[in-house]
Amino acid sequence: MRTRAPAVVGLLAAASLGLTACADLGGLDLESVGDEGKTTYIKLALNQAETHPSYIALANLSDRFEEATDGRWKIEVFPNEQLGSQQEVLQFVKSGAIEMAIVSGTQLENMNKDFQVLNMPTTFSSIEHQMNVIRDQDLMEPLFQSLADTDNISVIGGFTQGTRNLYTSDGGVVTPADLAGQKIRVQESAMHIRMIELMGGSATPLSYGEVYTAIQSGVLDGAENNEVSYVTQNHHEVARFHSNTEHLVGLDYMVMRDDLLDAMDDADRELFLQEWDAAMDEHTDLWNSETDAAIERAKASGAEFVQVDEQAFAEALAPIRDEFLTNDFQRGLYDAVRDADTGENAS
Ligand code: GCU
Repeated sequence: MRTRAPAVVGLLAAASLGLTACADLGGLDLESVGDEGKTTYIKLALNQAETHPSYIALANLSDRFEEATDGRWKIEVFPNEQLGSQQEVLQFVKSGAIEMAIVSGTQLENMNKDFQVLNMPTTFSSIEHQMNVIRDQDLMEPLFQSLADTDNISVIGGFTQGTRNLYTSDGGVVTPADLAGQKIRVQESAMHIRMIELMGGSATPLSYGEVYTAIQSGVLDGAENNEVSYVTQNHHEVARFHSNTEHLVGLDYMVMRDDLLDAMDDADRELFLQEWDAAMDEHTDLWNSETDAAIERAKASGAEFVQVDEQAFAEALAPIRDEFLTNDFQRGLYDAVRDADTGENAS
């Protein structure tokens, strides 16, 4: 997937842009990464708790890569937004202050609108469909490499966010009309603001770590997320009504400093990408069992699971495609992703 020539160009560009400032921000000395006789520390930012499948898969990735390189590399995973919100850490990867982060697709759409295609309701029918698509290197490369030259960000793959649903504090939602006047937290994305509007609510963009308090204090009436986040963030304590709108199969990306990927020697890079691939598999395997466990935990603590009128929400959301697929690249990618769906919901 990677070509070597632009790497050198990238490094030269970084040098001429004065990215040596990275060192001041705690960045790496790219000349000596992975060298024998020392440990190269890689900072990886995550906004999830230690019980979340993403943390588990990344911690195991870290162990395997450290062991396979006899301790020359050590990936330090910082959970719980310790290094900042996703919006912030994405800028840190870009500036070289940290090396890697897991960020939601909604964050990348703010850097390149083409990412919207994969953040849209109806794009993915299932987790299996989604993971097959993001492992299709020919299809993904234009998108995954689109920020490398301009922002020094390389996307190397992703973790599913599973199916996202709505949850609210003041009664369940069955039809879009039930959402009228309700303030619902969304990720920082123009498309997701519109998504909630079409679903009948009023959207408030906010970073992940602030959602619990906003609902608890009554500033917001609810949010939308997968069941794993609903429980690992304790949102089920403050928004007791979970309505299965299943409006979206969301996607997180692993983003990495492109110049670091280029600075790794070939064998280390290959090893790292191999272990990352195994981390994607482990994450997918964990996802279904953790979702079931989260639903059980939520129910046991008194959350109510409400059946929505699926047809009514599907009809409400239908206009989003035409509004947000605005150029030929986006329409072509959307069609190719839909064509790759071989599951039972294939259209
Ligand atoms: C999911 C996703 C996160 C994202 C969060 C959110 O948990 O995995 O990457 O930040 O949703 O709604 O903000």
